[in-house]
Amino acid sequence: MILKAYWTVLVIVFIGLTVYFNISTLLVVDEEKNLAVKPLVLPVKKIMAYSFNKQIELDGKEFVCENRFSKNNASGLNEAKFWSKVADMEVYVTSVTLDERLEPYSYLRIVGAMKGSWNATLYCQISTNDDNVRIIKSTVTPIWYEKWDMNDNNTYYNPVLISCRLPGFINSSKPTSVALSKNPCQSSHKYLEIAKPKVIRKLNFTLCVKPLNFAQDISGHLVEWIEMSRILGAQYFHIFVQNVTKSTRRLLKWYKHRYPNMINLEDFSPVDSCNSCTKRNYLQQTWQRRRYEVVTYNKCFYSNLNSQFIVPLDVDEIIVPKSVRTWQDLVQNRGNYSSLIIQNVYFFARSKNRFNRPFFLNENRRNKVPNQKGENGKSFISTKNTLTVFNHYALQLLRPGVIKDYYFMQFTDAQLNHYKASCNSEIFPECAKYLSSPTIIDDIISRYKNEFYLRYHKVLNRMKNDGINIF
Ligand SMILES: *[C@@H]1O[C@H](CO)[C@@H](O)[C@H](O)[C@H]1NC(C)=O
Ligand SMILES: *[C@@H]1O[C@H](CO)[C@@H](O)[C@H](O)[C@H]1NC(C)=O
Ligand SMILES: *[C@@H]1O[C@H](CO)[C@@H](O)[C@H](O)[C@H]1NC(C)=O
Ligand SMILES: *[C@@H]1O[C@H](CO)[C@@H](O)[C@H](O)[C@H]1NC(C)=O
Ligand SMILES: *[C@@H]1O[C@H](CO)[C@@H](O)[C@H](O)[C@H]1NC(C)=O
Ligand SMILES: *[C@@H]1O[C@H](CO)[C@@H](O)[C@H](O)[C@H]1NC(C)=O
Ligand SMILES: *[C@@H]1O[C@H](CO)[C@@H](O)[C@H](O)[C@H]1NC(C)=O
Repeated sequence: MILKAYWTVLVIVFIGLTVYFNISTLLVVDEEKNLAVKPLVLPVKKIMAYSFNKQIELDGKEFVCENRFSKNNASGLNEAKFWSKVADMEVYVTSVTLDERLEPYSYLRIVGAMKGSWNATLYCQISTNDDNVRIIKSTVTPIWYEKWDMNDNNTYYNPVLISCRLPGFINSSKPTSVALSKNPCQSSHKYLEIAKPKVIRKLNFTLCVKPLNFAQDISGHLVEWIEMSRILGAQYFHIFVQNVTKSTRRLLKWYKHRYPNMINLEDFSPVDSCNSCTKRNYLQQTWQRRRYEVVTYNKCFYSNLNSQFIVPLDVDEIIVPKSVRTWQDLVQNRGNYSSLIIQNVYFFARSKNRFNRPFFLNENRRNKVPNQKGENGKSFISTKNTLTVFNHYALQLLRPGVIKDYYFMQFTDAQLNHYKASCNSEIFPECAKYLSSPTIIDDIISRYKNEFYLRYHKVLNRMKNDGINIF
């Protein structure tokens, strides 16, 4: 009896495998009719969870073309330009990075934006340093929830992550650049170079700052924010810059020049010139801006995988530990989560529309009741556990089902001090509620006062010696 059952199982498994293989072959042949391609099914070795394993397999479907590709010249991502358009497609790429977190597999992760819906199939033509081109069907992951805004009518540039699992390269052969194409065997002329990491050393906390857009000079404010963040644990700042005043830009450049291992400045601009974006109404512009922010956060994420955590933070936000002293103390023993979320609480400026300086030592009146958990919170996002990120937390996990999604820090352990000079109820309907609710004095941040002034004056002196005066 036992023997019979054993054989039945084997036969069923065999039939299952045959059917699966035929179906997958059929699918591929059907999709790419007339292209003379055949799929290579690469074995997947380590089983973590069935569906996850399956996903890894699907991510790496390889194609072989009859006409051998010769390697084209890589055009490279032009650092001066934020986007690199893919030929014949409304696909705009901003970064290509090598991701080796799912050992033994490795991936190319391409962060970009696609106009409209994301139903097209894209192929990665990966060239290697031994002059080969390998072709992999990509997996396109939208970095957005549709429910965030309905009726978008396909008008937006939507953030996407394009992933290609690398074939099991032998050791001597390394990927150097990649082209994207609609058909696997279509030859491409534009190869995008794989980014070399800017920082090799391991870091604990990297701050990701969405495109700065300030009509007023914020250089003084930035110095305070940067120096305070460093005390708490920030080791690296990846700052996107869109439209700031001359003095603000000069200050940022000074930081970059004086602390090259601490700051990465990157100019951001929208995909299309603002001729067409002024045609959009205010709400549409806001939603497009949100999408661009998501692109920059994900670019920041994949550019800083050397950091244990990335923190999407605005320059009016400070994560303040309460029961311990530093961010490092806060994240102790929380290695199995994707996002460690800190509760938001508003500090509104007392004098209309401006802060006294340093802003966080002078403005100490906050709403008595913090925001609800999850509402406008910010997170330490674990690079080990996360696939894509959003402004507030990780959106998708790297190993779904294996690690936990998020952990809410207790309000008694940490809070997100969110300094608002003003609150525009039109943009932000909750304003009325927050502006009218009871407030209390909260100067917990003042316990860093001495340490802050020590650093702050040192930096100001350094600036003065370099002829920069922010006052
Ligand atoms: C590649 O670049 C080299 C030197 O820049 C040039 O001589 C060659 O023609 C280029 N090849 C192609 C296919 O564009
Ligand atoms: C992709 O979606 C658009 C709009 O929803 C549709 O018109 C188009 O046919 C779709 N393309 C494919 C290949 O399914
Ligand atoms: C989408 O189209 C519908 C119908 O034409 C229109 O009512 C709606 O306002 C549009 N939405 C956006 C965001 O443009
Ligand atoms: C590749 O290199 C690793 C160590 O760097 C070695 O263990 C492995 O055997 C090598 N594989 C091949 C196919 O040469
Ligand atoms: C970074 O984190 C490691 C533990 O993961 C810790 O040993 C080290 O002290 C931290 N570095 C700093 C500067 O906090
Ligand atoms: C940048 O900001 C200034 C001041 O607000 C504004 O006059 C200018 O048009 C902006 N430039 C762009 C490209 O948006
Ligand atoms: C993560 O989970 C594993 C398995 O449950 C456990 O052994 C490990 O100690 C956990 N790590 C942390 C930092 O909690």
